[in-house]
Amino acid sequence: MPSLRNILLAAASAALVAAKSAQVNVYYGQRGNDDLGAVCSTGVDYVTLAFVDVSPENGGSSGYPGDNFADHCYAGYYPGSSLLYDCPPITNNWQVCKEKGVKLLLSVGGVFSSGSNYTLSSDANAIDFANFLWYAFGPYDPAHSEVRPFDIGDSHFFVDGFDLDIEEKFANQGPWNTFVAQLRTNFAGGDFLITAAPQCPYSDSSFEMTDILAGSKFDLIWIQFYNNPVCDGINGGFNFDRWITYLDGTPNSKTPLFIGLPASVNASGSADCRQP
Ligand SMILES: *[C@@H]1O[C@H](CO)[C@@H](O)[C@H](O)[C@H]1NC(C)=O
Ligand SMILES: *[C@@H]1O[C@H](CO)[C@@H](O)[C@H](O)[C@H]1NC(C)=O
Repeated sequence: MPSLRNILLAAASAALVAAKSAQVNVYYGQRGNDDLGAVCSTGVDYVTLAFVDVSPENGGSSGYPGDNFADHCYAGYYPGSSLLYDCPPITNNWQVCKEKGVKLLLSVGGVFSSGSNYTLSSDANAIDFANFLWYAFGPYDPAHSEVRPFDIGDSHFFVDGFDLDIEEKFANQGPWNTFVAQLRTNFAGGDFLITAAPQCPYSDSSFEMTDILAGSKFDLIWIQFYNNPVCDGINGGFNFDRWITYLDGTPNSKTPLFIGLPASVNASGSADCRQP
């Protein structure tokens, strides 16, 4: 069977022939207050919860990271932090995702700003951040899990992995490689994933995840072919082949690639993929 990468390559050069075995990931959390279980019932393969957007070093007196799931959470924050715990649309029916075999991922990053500041200034901070996320959102471990934002009583919510959507070009990206390595250490060879969502621009100043993609092996990469007319799916600059060439020289030469498109018809660079 051809690899997913080959299928998508073929699709890219053959007018998007629907590939039966192609997989679908959707980002979830920033629009509306839709129910996670319902999203997992739509036939998708992955749902990526977005976003953990504040690193612990910017997270206030608690030392916790912060997150933002728009209307999926109410204003319940752990003291001294912007870490949410009251998120019924996420926590009510998440078990449906497990029953259907849909992998849940937790995305770190998103739009970078003073209120969504995920700088990592050292390897030690990167390790602490990775450990916090693992024990808070990974499989329940009574020895370490002091904070479990999405647990309801004995119902221990857990993700199947983590995603990096870094949208700021940090001068030193080394701590992010340390972050990924620490998550892998925590996975201990178990069935968990680390994915990446680079934006499509391929110029130095806008290619934010350069050293992260060159320094860490990811299990899946979904390139954002939107929001950037220079390289999006509809304005003539679609640069998928450039990505293949680039990744061939990195630890991600064999990583399956997904074509990231916006699901909203009004987003910049969106493509109307509806069947006639
Ligand atoms: C993010 O936080 C760091 C300190 O941790 C600060 O130096 C930087 O200016 C902040 N960035 C933004 C965009 O606020
Ligand atoms: C898209 O934009 C049009 C024109 O502004 C608006 O009428 C429509 O409701 C928007 N659709 C969505 C899904 O946001």
